[in-house]
Amino acid sequence: MDTLSLLARYDRRLPRYTSYPTAVQFDARVNRDVHRRWLAAIPDGATASLYLHVPFCRSLCWFCGCNTSVMNSVTALERYATSVQAEIARVASAIGHRLPVRQIHWGGGTPTALPAPSMQAIDAALRRHFVIDADTEIAIEIDPRTLPTTAESDLRALGIGRASLGVQDFSPAVQDAIGRHQSVAQTRHAALVARVAGACSINLDLVYGLPHQTVASLEATVESVLEIDPDRVALYGYAHVPWMQKRQQVIAEYDLPDAVARLAQQARAGTMLAEAGYSRIGLDHFAKPSDRMALACGTPALRRNFQGYTVDDADVLIGFGASAISALPQGYAQNATRTADYLASIEKAGFAIARGLALTEEDGLRRAIIERIMCDLAVDVARLAKNAGVDFATFDDVWPKLESLAMDGLIRRDGSVISVTEAGRPFLRHVASCFDAYLDPETARHASAI
Ligand SMILES: C[S@@+](CC[C@H](N)C(=O)[O-])C[C@H]1O[C@@H](n2cnc3c(N)ncnc32)[C@H](O)[C@@H]1O
Ligand code: SF4
Repeated sequence: MDTLSLLARYDRRLPRYTSYPTAVQFDARVNRDVHRRWLAAIPDGATASLYLHVPFCRSLCWFCGCNTSVMNSVTALERYATSVQAEIARVASAIGHRLPVRQIHWGGGTPTALPAPSMQAIDAALRRHFVIDADTEIAIEIDPRTLPTTAESDLRALGIGRASLGVQDFSPAVQDAIGRHQSVAQTRHAALVARVAGACSINLDLVYGLPHQTVASLEATVESVLEIDPDRVALYGYAHVPWMQKRQQVIAEYDLPDAVARLAQQARAGTMLAEAGYSRIGLDHFAKPSDRMALACGTPALRRNFQGYTVDDADVLIGFGASAISALPQGYAQNATRTADYLASIEKAGFAIARGLALTEEDGLRRAIIERIMCDLAVDVARLAKNAGVDFATFDDVWPKLESLAMDGLIRRDGSVISVTEAGRPFLRHVASCFDAYLDPETARHASAI
């Protein structure tokens, strides 16, 4: 089938499936008491991954969909860091024993927007309340434009082993249109600083589908990116959701590439990365064959969580900071999104859980199926259903939905085993959505799935 006909069928808005059920389904029935009960039930011997959300940046990029704002007051930044430390102590006391930590992820916003002593104080609180050792992988998101001059020693003091740097696109026309100016030299310098500080794995984030972006501008960007020689590259499709993210209203919709152009950009950048020797991972990641992520590909260690793809075998994910989400066997719990609400709740009650979702057995199974589709491009539905003790007939309505994907060559079906073809990789979200029992195509306001 030609591209235009495919797009005519599949150009729709779908979740990114960084969780299932998606955050749209969260509500206030999961509150701090529920969360405390879930934390108390974490058994001895379980392992954790920790996510720290820092919702601050030096300036705001118009394309950005993240929960972040500009904050220049050192007092306000320190107050936030103090709240995160208080939250760490309260969560650890609810768990009741020191959990070994497999991974720590400093995300945002821009974590280095916090003063270095504040970051160190948060790190010390983590080390007091959790077991963090040489095997714990510590990762951070870095904005190459605003790297502090003390970054090398700051990152080393935190034990950073992996760094992710935002690029998006190096073309001046695109950078003007997204309110983010960043040179190749700045990016190369930031990658070098992170490496010297101890990061053995460097990721660069690229985005296609941005205003004024073309296949040629992305080609030039990928060439520059390859010269920086990252271990991983993420190639995200621009998610334009101005009804949720007011800052994106600055971006004129008529400047955005259409679905055909988006697909062409994604295909060309993907081909260049693959030809340069990177392995394709899931929907939007690329890694050198020697990188942990490429080695984890095809094994259960490759997971999908709120940060996207990750190599993580921890039993629970615990989030700290405004809007951070915890994923526990019983379900999801999310902190208040607005920083002011988060601070007020922590200062008053020590917890800031605002919403979440308790998983049913069937949710848990659908979550596992969707995660394996997004990570492995393949899943044996009957095997997972049997393991979960759920009747395979639960999925009777799914097979007709998959039929058209199979006819279009995007998936293959062999009994209860579904495998996504290479042509189907850009349509992974469509395949996953067939297992989404909550998706309402009439009301869903997600970003474009391509
Ligand atoms: C949480 S941001 C932090 C990056 C860091 N602050 C920086 O500026 O480099 C991580 C990445 O999310 C991606 N991102 C943010 N908004 C996006 C959007 N609307 N659509 C697609 N990707 C987006 C960008 O690639 C960005 O580098
Ligand atoms: S891309 Fe990074 S610096 Fe820009 S607004 Fe988003 S989080 Fe902040």
